[in-house]
Amino acid sequence: MQITLSSPLDMHLHLRDGDMLRLTAPLSADFAGAVIMPNLVPPVSTPEMMQAYAERIESAMGGADFTRYMTLFFTPLSEAQLDAAAAAPGFFGFKLYPAGITTNSEGGLRDFADAEPTLRAMEERGIPLLVHGESHGFVMDREAEFLATYRALATRFPKLKLCMEHITTAAAVQLLDEFPNICATVTLQHLLITLNDVAGGALKPHLFCKPIAKRPEDKEALLSAALGGHPRLFFGSDSAPHPQHKKECCGCAAGVFTAPVALPALAQLFAEHGALDKLQGFVSGNACRHYGLAPVEKIVTLRDTPMQVPAAYRSFGQTVVPMFAGEELGWSVAH
Ligand code: DOR
Ligand code: ZN
Repeated sequence: MQITLSSPLDMHLHLRDGDMLRLTAPLSADFAGAVIMPNLVPPVSTPEMMQAYAERIESAMGGADFTRYMTLFFTPLSEAQLDAAAAAPGFFGFKLYPAGITTNSEGGLRDFADAEPTLRAMEERGIPLLVHGESHGFVMDREAEFLATYRALATRFPKLKLCMEHITTAAAVQLLDEFPNICATVTLQHLLITLNDVAGGALKPHLFCKPIAKRPEDKEALLSAALGGHPRLFFGSDSAPHPQHKKECCGCAAGVFTAPVALPALAQLFAEHGALDKLQGFVSGNACRHYGLAPVEKIVTLRDTPMQVPAAYRSFGQTVVPMFAGEELGWSVAH
């Protein structure tokens, strides 16, 4: 069996900077492009920082054709600042983090009331708002508690292009059905694992991420929306590399590194469920239609020939452990 995908996109990707960027960027090169997250230290918060980061990504990609959809770290901005951002080459939208909710988000938003004028101006300009939707409550309930905020935003700003990033719950899928002006991304790991896989036996630090994986019924709801070809649900890996020593330690960093295994694992998952015909939409078509994107043309063939996943990826003095490290996947990219 095989499938040929046209211009697959990763709608939520962390590439980091420096040596880690040089290691990770080429591992996303089977994708035609990605939405690049801005949570560097310091966050990518001005058009100048964004353009400089886009150039560092391009050079780390080593000549691969790859469309960088750049995001800026959301802070309340004036209309003139929004116009400057929107005019910057490669700009895609803003990523909003509640303050302190995850890796490098200390400078995030503390009070949504402060954001209202900016959101109104974004709505008028058609600038997407991508949101890390978690409250500071009990870890299993953080996304569910945040849904009221999504609901309020979608109601107050009906034309705002609002995206719930990395959804993990059946309740978020329901909200997606309820509000045609909301879209969402979902990761590979949240289609495959539950909290049991992370912490049900010996702790698996490489599967620990924010939002944390949830219950079996949540995973099933996400899976059925993805396999059913939900038109406003897009693949966003949230591939979030951390050095091995920051994962295998006391105080494990949140993030699952899936970039190098994402396409084969998705093909395997969709094939196992007899839904390969829905994969093109999930990894590209739905997002292109929703946002009006035209990434570089890239044809990627996936086959049901095994891929041996390395125990770790090492270069430039960095070591990162991917999801499925040391395991064999049933599918691979035909290079
Ligand atoms: O697990 C996560 N890792 N969740 C996020 O929201 C951020 C990401 C990271 O940057 O490491
Ligand atoms: Zn992320």
